[in-house]
Amino acid sequence: MHIYPRPPASKVKELLAACNLPASDLEAADFEHFFGCGVEAEPKGVVGVELYGEVGLLRSLAVEEAARGHGCGTRLVKEAEKHAVANGVEALYLLTTTAEEFFRSQGYMKIERASVPEAIRRTSEFSTLCPSTATAMVKVLKA
Ligand SMILES: CC(C)(COP(=O)(O)OP(=O)(O)OC[C@H]1O[C@@H](n2cnc3c(N)ncnc32)[C@H](O)[C@@H]1OP(=O)(O)O)[C@@H](O)C(=O)NCCC(=O)NCCS
Repeated sequence: MHIYPRPPASKVKELLAACNLPASDLEAADFEHFFGCGVEAEPKGVVGVELYGEVGLLRSLAVEEAARGHGCGTRLVKEAEKHAVANGVEALYLLTTTAEEFFRSQGYMKIERASVPEAIRRTSEFSTLCPSTATAMVKVLKA
């Protein structure tokens, strides 16, 4: 499965909409920290990272329904983690309402929202876009 940086913004937004994930806060520069899976112009899956020094937010992981179960999600998470480590991130956080088990299988641990660092809590995903019932998770990354 081909993984590549900077998938087309329009395709990212289409995939996120199809998976009911927020995209309204994404700006052009954010796509520099996105990865796609599959054919370059037509990604079957996408993921993004927001970088805040030693901490980061993994967001917008979405694989189109017909392509699920073939390792695309796992490969995208690994690529996002590699990108985060390369940019000095030591702990990667995320919020999910739908894929807690999937992320647990990728080494993420559930945590209280209150223990999430301030920089992550200030992101639009944490502060406005995701429901307060979403599960917060973290993974400590190894350089
Ligand atoms: C979560 C998601 C990205 C996984 O993508 P994928 O390409 O199917 O992932 P993989 O093929 O790498 O799956 C790895 C394993 O996780 C399991 N898995 C996939 N999605 C899962 C989910 N939502 N809950 C629990 N397990 C899941 C798969 O069955 C597979 O198990 P196996 O290795 O025992 O066969 C995909 O289901 C998706 O886009 N869901 C909708 C959007 C979403 O929930 N995104 C996360 C928001 S933060």
